[in-house]
Amino acid sequence: MNIVPNDLADVIEADRAHIWHHLMQHKPLETSDPRVMVEGKGVRVWDAAGSEYIDAVSGGVWTVNVGYGRERIANAIRDQLVQIPYFAGSAGSIPGANFAKKLTGLLPGLTRVYYANSGSEANEKAFKMVRQIAHKKYGGKKHKILFRERDYHGTTIACLSAGGQPERNAQYGPFTPGFVEVPHCLEYRAQVETESYGEWAADQVEEVILREGPDTVGALCLEPVTAGGGVVPPPEGYWERIQEICRKHDVLLHIDEVVCGVGRTGTWFGYQHFGVKPDFVTMAKGVASGYAAIACMVTTDEVFAMFKDDADDPMNYFRDISTFGGCTAGPAAALENVAIIEEENLLDNTTRMGARLIDNLRSLQERHRVIGDVRGKGLFCGAELVADRATKEPVDEKTVLAVAADCATQGVIIGATNRSLPGLNNTLCFSPPLISTADDIDRITAAVDKALTRTFS
Ligand SMILES: Cc1ncc(COP(=O)(O)O)c(C=O)c1O
Repeated sequence: MNIVPNDLADVIEADRAHIWHHLMQHKPLETSDPRVMVEGKGVRVWDAAGSEYIDAVSGGVWTVNVGYGRERIANAIRDQLVQIPYFAGSAGSIPGANFAKKLTGLLPGLTRVYYANSGSEANEKAFKMVRQIAHKKYGGKKHKILFRERDYHGTTIACLSAGGQPERNAQYGPFTPGFVEVPHCLEYRAQVETESYGEWAADQVEEVILREGPDTVGALCLEPVTAGGGVVPPPEGYWERIQEICRKHDVLLHIDEVVCGVGRTGTWFGYQHFGVKPDFVTMAKGVASGYAAIACMVTTDEVFAMFKDDADDPMNYFRDISTFGGCTAGPAAALENVAIIEEENLLDNTTRMGARLIDNLRSLQERHRVIGDVRGKGLFCGAELVADRATKEPVDEKTVLAVAADCATQGVIIGATNRSLPGLNNTLCFSPPLISTADDIDRITAAVDKALTRTFS
């Protein structure tokens, strides 16, 4: 680390006095120091106390896909900023056009990119398009947007209205009307016993469409692999059936790739494991690996055409702007980010290291009865902790967080579901950078092994 920890006492005090940290109760910070991160290189980060960590959650929330310290991304951003940092998105930019071309090449069937600056905002763009399409084509009737129990789509009131995590939503209502929940598809906690759970879970979506009236349902918004709701890869047959149902009822399919997008699961996008054809794909975190704020809402020619079909009508276009969607640093960084993933074969590495991570977690499961389920796709894995394997009674959130805290004392930062699902915040989360080596993966799971032994013996 280049920074001397003692220089940072003032920073710690300024943080304690003035920063309102995200997702945090601040009372404990009156008697302990806030964590301040000062440096990162590869998969490692250093905090203000000089402690070194393997970051097994890519910046805490599945973001820094290509790892820390990428000078070529920083240089591309710098060069772009001195050329032109910003102009509103009603005009184009060189990196904006180039990245849109590159990105749509990775998304067969999708052709148009709308830039924004956060995952929530990208999702809101799709929601607004669905609503506007409902008005243009269906007299406003086909305006409902379905979302799934356990999924999360962002922090704004409209995104929370599409939020399937009751603890994230509590106390922030009332919510936007027209959002309707469909059941989750976590096989470990299946609602029924059946051999074809994937199809059954997808059929529940159709039940909701039929109950609400297909002429009122405009879109279905799903995460390819649910992230904060417990790392839930879809059961077999789920997505294929979802696609059929959407086509049958003329429901647009919006896939939220904010976490899975840009390599996290070993394909460019999570949905590409399942052969489906979405109408909207939204993405944010991994697009520029956190080096710059950028989010994208990507859609088809068909959707785009609906917004220019009557040029004489002054209301007949997408009347939306994202001020910071016009920042050029985002697409400049994103171009380098994608080039790194290609040049370093990081999709292959993610598949191989993801398999190793799952194997290691499964061996831990053999030795630690507290691990009830291990699941994941690529470098995006979860281990659900249960007090009793037979009843699947969840371990309480405090104890799950104690496991994560123990790993941190060993120099490994892992994640854990928190304040999402009442009584079910019991999943340890792993999403190390896509550059992780076998040694990194083994160190991560060795820390978990020790933490589980210490917490549960
Ligand atoms: C699946 C998913 N969608 C959307 C979002 C919201 O993204 P942002 O925090 O950039 O608004 C998140 C954030 O964690 C997410 O996990």
